[in-house]
Amino acid sequence: MRQPIVAGNWKMNGDRAQSSKLVNDIKNALDTPIQAQVVLCPPHILIPLVHEQIQGTNISLGGQNLDVHDEGAFTGEVSGPMLVDFGCNYCIVGHSERRAYYADTNELVAEKFAVAQKHGLIPILCVGETLEQREKGMTEPVVDAQLDAVLGRVSISGFKQAVIAYEPVWAIGTGKTATPEQAQQVHAHIREKLAALDAEVASNVRILYGGSVKADNAASLFSKADIDGGLIGGASLEATQFVKICQSC
Ligand code: PGA
Repeated sequence: MRQPIVAGNWKMNGDRAQSSKLVNDIKNALDTPIQAQVVLCPPHILIPLVHEQIQGTNISLGGQNLDVHDEGAFTGEVSGPMLVDFGCNYCIVGHSERRAYYADTNELVAEKFAVAQKHGLIPILCVGETLEQREKGMTEPVVDAQLDAVLGRVSISGFKQAVIAYEPVWAIGTGKTATPEQAQQVHAHIREKLAALDAEVASNVRILYGGSVKADNAASLFSKADIDGGLIGGASLEATQFVKICQSC
């Protein structure tokens, strides 16, 4: 049985007051035990605040990105050891916004994945195609290339302690969700691809769906055989929505 994960990707949103209120509201609304592991990924600067607030709960903490170096003259960056020091267990790598705006190539994402694991962080590896790529029938080759770069760096054994998030770029922040069938098709493809290398690793790896997941579409997405939870952007900033999504697993 794969334990589902619901991870909230706050992106570059929130200040101290808003974040405190959001975490508090999430804690209060999560008043009964749920099946899913809940992970919050706030902006780096808010990590200490959220860390303090989730003490005594089952909520985990994650970074949204990390640098490949451990320390040094890399202005503006945050390293794996820093994330660990501040209580993170997870780190998102290869989010499509990083790939599109900050030149995170497949190779750099693979390196970030490896570095996160070296420090004991569980990488949440984002993969997914643009609308143009989907329309050209390129979804699987694009996702394959994103996975192959990571497999080339860490091999299949690297996926023993990792999470994958399939996030079609056209569905992120657009209100256009992939249908459960569209998502399931890609999730099954990812799992089959990994199963060809190691059936056990493939059957244990959690594959989350991300892209306009909301309280009202989460249950139908999560009911699919290969969808093991979600990576939630916009809806993770609203406690009621986010908790409903967590309870949909
Ligand atoms: P969204 O973002 O839920 O706002 O579409 C998802 C993501 O980017 O991880």
